[in-house]
Amino acid sequence: MNGEFRAPDWERYRMDYRDPHRALEALEEEIAVVDAALTALRQAGVLPHTRYEKSNMLAHRRAVRELFEIPWTAITPRMQRLLYAINAILQPQNMIAAGVFCGYTFISNAGAAVGPGACYAAQNLIGVEIRPEEAERAERNVRHIDSTGVARIAADDAVNFVKHFQGPIDLLYLDADGGARGKGIYLEITEAGYDRMPSGSVVLAHNSVNMAASLKHYLDFVRDPANFRASVNIIVDSEGLEVSSK
Ligand SMILES: C[S@@+](CC[C@H](N)C(=O)[O-])C[C@H]1O[C@@H](n2cnc3c(N)ncnc32)[C@H](O)[C@@H]1O
Repeated sequence: MNGEFRAPDWERYRMDYRDPHRALEALEEEIAVVDAALTALRQAGVLPHTRYEKSNMLAHRRAVRELFEIPWTAITPRMQRLLYAINAILQPQNMIAAGVFCGYTFISNAGAAVGPGACYAAQNLIGVEIRPEEAERAERNVRHIDSTGVARIAADDAVNFVKHFQGPIDLLYLDADGGARGKGIYLEITEAGYDRMPSGSVVLAHNSVNMAASLKHYLDFVRDPANFRASVNIIVDSEGLEVSSK
């Protein structure tokens, strides 16, 4: 089943990339928009329910605000909450995030299992970043929040890393811009791990709205019921997140 969730104000809801922690709306409003998106995902059969602990999410947000060095990010507060909630609900044992830059998108996913917002125990939470200096910064950031080592950063090409990852991939988050290969690299990364994605595993693809043209082949792939049983375009902001369930 394919579909779309569109927040009525998605075009007006804008952030300053260099000021990611600034509130853009009342907290109740943010929670309501994300709850509506989670409901759309439950109705599509991607999520079993929509419940997550709101106070844990805020503890996670506070820790990231205090401890992370973030030069810029396009992850809005709504998107941060949505990523946290999807992970808190699905509780993936193995999660790989591809193209994590300074680690903010990675911890928005992994924060459901490590740090002050943790609500379950995972096995492997790995952010992959191809630029060594950014991988180092991301690892430094992550170490401020997770002392266990369950969450970690690998300096590698995400296609290569996913291809050689041993074991099931329960959640794959895509945000690599691919360098010369561009955002089309999402499809390469997904194909590299597809055979180790169990039934019910999900792929989250950032930029499903503002990069839709360069993601055409990827979106065609995940929206084909032969490959994924459901795929929903979640438009809570002008970037968007395609959520696909195998
Ligand atoms: C645009 S950034 C993601 C930023 C994120 N959307 C945010 O708003 O915080 C994309 C990152 O992917 C990385 N990247 C590009 N190709 C990659 C690859 N093949 N494997 C891993 N990382 C890659 C880039 O170095 C860059 O840090």
